[in-house]
Amino acid sequence: MCGIFGYVGEEREIGSEVLEALRTLEYRGYDSWGVAVGVDGRIGVEKRTGKIAGAHVDFPPSPIAFGHTRWATHGGVTHANAHPHLDCDGRLAVIHNGIVENFRPLRDSLLARGHRFVSETDSEVIAHLLEDALPQADGDLAAALSAVVGRLEGLNAVIAMDVRSGTLAAAKNVSPLVVGEGNRGASIASDGLALQGHADRVLYLEDHHLVRLSPDGITLYDRRSMSELSADFAPLVLQSGETGLGAFPHFMAKEMAEQPDVLERLVRDATGQIEDLAAAIRDSYGAFLVGCGTASYAALTGAYLFSRIAARHVNFTVGSEFKYHEHFLTDSSLVIALSQSGETVDIIEAMLAARRRGARLGALVNVPRSTLDRMVDLRVHLGAGPEQCVLSTKAYTAKVAVLLMTAHALAGSPEKGKEEVLAAAAGLQEMLSDAWVAQVREVARRIHREEHLFVIGRGLAFPTALEAALKIKEVSYIHAEGFAGGELKHGVIALVAPGTPCVVYAPSDETRADILSGAMELKSRGGYMIGVGPEPDPVFDVHLPTPDVGDAAPLVNALPAQMLGYHAALLRGNDPDKPRNLAKSVTVK
Ligand code: F6R
Repeated sequence: MCGIFGYVGEEREIGSEVLEALRTLEYRGYDSWGVAVGVDGRIGVEKRTGKIAGAHVDFPPSPIAFGHTRWATHGGVTHANAHPHLDCDGRLAVIHNGIVENFRPLRDSLLARGHRFVSETDSEVIAHLLEDALPQADGDLAAALSAVVGRLEGLNAVIAMDVRSGTLAAAKNVSPLVVGEGNRGASIASDGLALQGHADRVLYLEDHHLVRLSPDGITLYDRRSMSELSADFAPLVLQSGETGLGAFPHFMAKEMAEQPDVLERLVRDATGQIEDLAAAIRDSYGAFLVGCGTASYAALTGAYLFSRIAARHVNFTVGSEFKYHEHFLTDSSLVIALSQSGETVDIIEAMLAARRRGARLGALVNVPRSTLDRMVDLRVHLGAGPEQCVLSTKAYTAKVAVLLMTAHALAGSPEKGKEEVLAAAAGLQEMLSDAWVAQVREVARRIHREEHLFVIGRGLAFPTALEAALKIKEVSYIHAEGFAGGELKHGVIALVAPGTPCVVYAPSDETRADILSGAMELKSRGGYMIGVGPEPDPVFDVHLPTPDVGDAAPLVNALPAQMLGYHAALLRGNDPDKPRNLAKSVTVK
């Protein structure tokens, strides 16, 4: 998490441009932000807590500046903990994404040597370590950073500024950094998106790289030896797709509405990549799907689809737990990561572990040229376009559609897969009618003041129930939990009180009779039953209809929960695009 951006070049009012770049990076964290500009050998710092929103600052013209948007890991959301962090003399400044895992002993030894700390962050140690290392490196910031980075444990990206030499230096371990070359100067950021307008050509830093950005240009080193490397810059290519809100009030609303188009596009454009993925699964001896959060529920849906459609066992693990299963991996294994951003650290670590075991790596990824996209052997690009709401909606649906089509390709029925996805796209389009949305809004009005909500589903609808609960809770802050239909009565039914909302997924498949009897048990305890499925039933207090699309049901079943969460959030006064405590790209463990 955390977004970082830096610039060295022509003197101009770069501080405002840094702030603008930080707006682009705010999806990585938005609890505070800060900008440092170098003017006449001094570093001026502007920091604030909260989102950037309409913030305006009059920055003086400067040839060097950088900025940071924070997602707190160490230390509360305070002005002092916001980056940049300075050394004792105010000559050096640091911005950092990641966690310095050994910061306590480092901080203790720096304090013992007389360094003065002003924040509670792990990041501030980097500034003070640099202060000690700089004289030993004869004032060369890049050499000093190389020595300091060698002492940091954890996954980190660091940009350091030396205002006296007008230089930035940067290095990374797993956390992403992209260097940009433009007409007016050199730039560097956590994401190529922020380099738009600053760079025409970019270089994605590797873990062994260290880069210096100075008035003389960009120099790339091997961080371990500090020998110079040739830098292969490539044109900056950004994810295609509309980035504005258009007529929509929020990105969440826009991205929910885009789902039918995303599915149609996948059917049109992704067939070749899907055939390759199906062949790789066929050839593997043990295939694993890994994902985090919403992506994990798409992955679990995939495990059901492969079993049901292709009679193939595909393992499923959440990204952060994958390393505890890596012992099963061999060079015949295939590990397929699902990730919108392609930067989720638990996924990247899982893939690094899989690679060490010799496994083949695949990905379903939305952001082209992300870390995941660049590291795998085969990929399916989701082509969902920029997903700007922190909650994942259209990327989830795209992942499930790819898995549905892959399962059919594996079963030898690729055309059926496409037909099912197109039927789901048409169904979603119907659901997005004003009348259907009004029905959901009415349910949101009924439940938005509740504290707890439960979601049940069986079979294919079980992972959907998990995803539905996540979607509702993360945006509305109503405590929502999803369960396999048969599980609730093994304990959690104790929490169902008169009026507790319970969402029941009742598709027209073999799970319907059992899930309805579970719903009856909940209703008998006073639960307010919200039925989701093609047919009504007397057990439902309210019915949100969905089209009957067979095995493509997970594609239409996410929307009722997305929409319910969205409207409940609005009624509770929450920002649906940037819910509290979250970040779009989870790049720390
Ligand atoms: C929930 C959500 C998260 C992400 C998860 C993985 O709405 O957005 O649970 O799905 O952080 O992110 P990616 O797909 O970028 O790896």
